Amino acid sequence: MVMRKSVRILLVGDRSVGKTSLILSLVSEEFNEDVPPKAEEITIPADVTPEQVPTHIVDFSAVEQTEEQLVDEIQRAHVVCVVYSVDDEDSLEHVTTHWLPLVRSSAQGSPLPVILVGNKVDLVDYSTIDMVMSIMEEYPEIESCVECSARTLKNISEMFYYAQKAVLHPTGPLYVLESQD
Ligand code: GTP
Ligand code: MG
Repeated sequence: MVMRKSVRILLVGDRSVGKTSLILSLVSEEFNEDVPPKAEEITIPADVTPEQVPTHIVDFSAVEQTEEQLVDEIQRAHVVCVVYSVDDEDSLEHVTTHWLPLVRSSAQGSPLPVILVGNKVDLVDYSTIDMVMSIMEEYPEIESCVECSARTLKNISEMFYYAQKAVLHPTGPLYVLESQD
């Protein structure tokens, strides 16, 4: 098992899926309409994380960063949250046509664990889980998937917990269908 003194979580995904909002909702425990393109890198101290390990959370912004910087951040990450928006079909399609292949090809050495994150569940009354299950069959590096909302805070702390867990206790795929509010 890999022992780590810290966990570095990177969020990637299409524009406007809510990467920055997810990070800032976690930190402030409330949703803010006005978020910058890119959140500052934040460090959560060990004593307030479920696994008692200092955790760095890193945002990506295509308007502020180059493709080269993105690849560099992927290589520095211990786990990547690939975010799509459940109300935006294109953003989910790009998970398989762009983001997962990019993470896979950028990762050096052992496969980089991925958490698949469907944000904005507050906007829809369906689940994307059927599509997500078939994606998970194709990409075993996906450790878990979660549907959440930066707006209502649903499954936000769970999402970051699964990311931590994927690094510290990799288990193989875990399906998270129902939320704990
Ligand atoms: P880029 O920085 O451009 O790549 O976008 P991003 O992925 O960081 O998205 P951002 O957090 O800027 O959010 C984009 C828009 O979606 C903003 O208007 C947010 O207020 C909105 N948004 C983010 N999360 C949610 C959510 O859970 N529900 C709803 N309804 N809106 C959300
Ligand atoms: Mg952003």
